[in-house]
Amino acid sequence: MNHFAYRDGVLHVEDVPLPAIAEAAGTPVYVYSRATLVRHVRAFREGLSALENPHIAFAVKANPNLAVLRVLANEGCGADVVSGGEMTRALAAGIAPADIVFSGVGKTHAELVQGIEAGIGQFNIESEEEGYELSMIAQRHGVRVPCALRVNPDVDARTHEKISTGKRENKFGVPLDRAAAIYAALAGEPGLEMRGVAVHIGSQLSDLEPLETAFGKLGDLVADLRAGGHPVTHADLGGGLGVPYREGEVFPSPAEYGAMVARVTAGWDVRLSFEPGRVIAANAGVLLTRVVRAKRSGNGPPFVIVDAAMNDLARPAMYGAWHDFDAVEPTGERMTAHIVGPICETGDTFAMDRDIDAMGPGDLAVFRSAGAYGATMASSYNSRGFVAEVLVDGDKWAVVADRISPHAIMDAERVPDWL
Ligand code: LLP
Repeated sequence: MNHFAYRDGVLHVEDVPLPAIAEAAGTPVYVYSRATLVRHVRAFREGLSALENPHIAFAVKANPNLAVLRVLANEGCGADVVSGGEMTRALAAGIAPADIVFSGVGKTHAELVQGIEAGIGQFNIESEEEGYELSMIAQRHGVRVPCALRVNPDVDARTHEKISTGKRENKFGVPLDRAAAIYAALAGEPGLEMRGVAVHIGSQLSDLEPLETAFGKLGDLVADLRAGGHPVTHADLGGGLGVPYREGEVFPSPAEYGAMVARVTAGWDVRLSFEPGRVIAANAGVLLTRVVRAKRSGNGPPFVIVDAAMNDLARPAMYGAWHDFDAVEPTGERMTAHIVGPICETGDTFAMDRDIDAMGPGDLAVFRSAGAYGATMASSYNSRGFVAEVLVDGDKWAVVADRISPHAIMDAERVPDWL
């Protein structure tokens, strides 16, 4: 069941035609499908059905919109957060503190305090130094906080280098060969209840093998820790499962992922947590945009200039990422074009030499698979505003994030009276 489908030649999200949203909410605008979010969570959970009571903590960084988080909370998801801001959002969306995992390599003193005061379910500690600081704050608050130690397994996730996190040279986690010693040291801290281990090796993984290698190493560590007399009751296997961005691409399914996890973790006797982000949200959203104009280029294909830009959807500029691009009302004709935004950088290019639906000024189009790492990575570069977000549910839809105008952004600035 695809909730982004053409009906009578017009692209709909669930039962809502996209031109109606463009008309009322303007463009560019992110549009999410509630039914797709729900379907993805259920498929992920179903994939893990061989496990006993897995904890699914949605990676809030992928899509922190409050309405999206509420949909996921209603499906029983917890949250993986990496900042005080994400924690605040997860709590505001109705996710119980006990279901929140606090990850991140640079949690500040204030954020650690915030997490302790909120009663966060698990701190994923990323360094020995962080552990001591957290313990000190916890003691001051008269509590012992539940913690897992994130390890860096030195495994190549075989994904884009900017989103690989599990190689020795990456900043994340503690080196595997020092993990047992660090765990033992932190287990002696009065403010910490060391209860498990965590790993996350990267994002948009197309292959289960690196994950399996990393989980295998984590399993060996669990055995070592137990042999050293430490109770280990929890293991967090992170996120990372990739999704198809191009029609026809095939990725490991949640069922294949779940079967691999069940096989590798058999006998661990821990509660497993997962931190999926992209696999839940990416294909549940599109960025709806309007063609500003088509411009002839020298000899090559024309530039189709759309009203969305790299500040709204950064992935192509940052990672060379591909997003399928389709007309909302295709005529059946095709053209080859470069798809670009209005920003004054050559990097503001969504695609070169792309075979697309023929389109011209005023036509609507979508960048697909934009529900994860889309709106959340927006900026106001070139003094553009922040893009709006819409959630569709059947034939209903609502603006779930207002467009923030350049004026509103300017309102936060001051010219001092001594100038
Ligand atoms: N857990 C941790 C500790 C993470 O660092 C991440 C992602 C996740 C979970 C979720 O990973 P996912 O299931 O979504 O792959 N901006 C990039 C992606 C950055 C991912 C960062 N960490 C992009 O647009 O591709």
